Amino acid sequence: MDTQALQQDALDAIASATVLADLDEARVKYLGRKSELKLALREVRDRETGMALNAAREAIESAVAARQAELERAELDAKLSSERVDVTLPAELLGDVHPRPRGHLHPTTLIRRDVEDAFIGLGYEIRDDREVETLEYNFDKLAFPEWHPARSPRDTYFLDANRVLRTETSASQIHAMEERKPPIYMVSIGRVYRRDAITPTRFPIFHQFEGLAVDRHITMADLKGTLLHVMRALFGEERRVRFRTHYFPFTEPSMEPDVSCGVCGGEGCATCKWSGWIEIGGSGMVDPQVLANVGLDPDEWSGFAFGLGLERAAQLRYDIPIIRPFWENDLRFLRQF
Ligand code: DAH
Repeated sequence: MDTQALQQDALDAIASATVLADLDEARVKYLGRKSELKLALREVRDRETGMALNAAREAIESAVAARQAELERAELDAKLSSERVDVTLPAELLGDVHPRPRGHLHPTTLIRRDVEDAFIGLGYEIRDDREVETLEYNFDKLAFPEWHPARSPRDTYFLDANRVLRTETSASQIHAMEERKPPIYMVSIGRVYRRDAITPTRFPIFHQFEGLAVDRHITMADLKGTLLHVMRALFGEERRVRFRTHYFPFTEPSMEPDVSCGVCGGEGCATCKWSGWIEIGGSGMVDPQVLANVGLDPDEWSGFAFGLGLERAAQLRYDIPIIRPFWENDLRFLRQF
């Protein structure tokens, strides 16, 4: 056997292998148990031939190992460049079959935006006020009498002797009137807090929207027309509005507006307790005492105000029987809007 020639053949085959499978084939052919070289090694009789054959075996083995390392690196490089993931690409371009879940607005936000739209359409300014108020703004300047139950820590969350979590957005009326002279047309939207037990319609945190118009010659007709417009924008063009007399410290006269029931169209049904009407909030003509408290002359200026619950409006709008899910972040509820 020509050991030299055999070694050369083996090295050529190894060098020309371009993929690992070809290299393995060459390895089996020249180093395998049935290879010419291995068979010859088994038959060796003299030291000289043995040394030559072993030298050839070693040369071929190290050539295989070196070529194997080369080919493995090349295959890895090829794999890395063909399978590279660009994490900045949109998932669909990466062939991702599962669409990413996309969030959407909370029902409170949806109704809030509708309220804002309706009032912006009337030229009102939207404001956002503080949730922590002093007794002065939450009660005194709104002409709450000393005996009013809302002043009690049983009804209201006190932070200290002088500050509360606001119980209503009405304090915004005072801030708005102190900030600048009339005419004022504003709606303030935000969270309010009350120490209420949870019921289908009550929750210790909720949102209100509070409107205030102060100008010359404002009348109750303006109030009613404004509420009618907004109720129709929120609940549909066929809605009607009526007032029932009521009491609030900061309005005189005070009224509770009702909106005609959307379920029965005013005929009477279980939803409206067979009255045809649904209570929706509070309203009235700004009490002259409140105007005087912010330094406005009640003989020159008059105004109306109203306050309504945002969740209550959403409950009516979307037919939601209880207020609690608005605060629970349960996706089974939120996904429905
Ligand atoms: N602040 C009242 C409440 O939370 C609602 C209210 C009634 C607001 C009459 C007003 C109003 O602006 O004029 O029950």
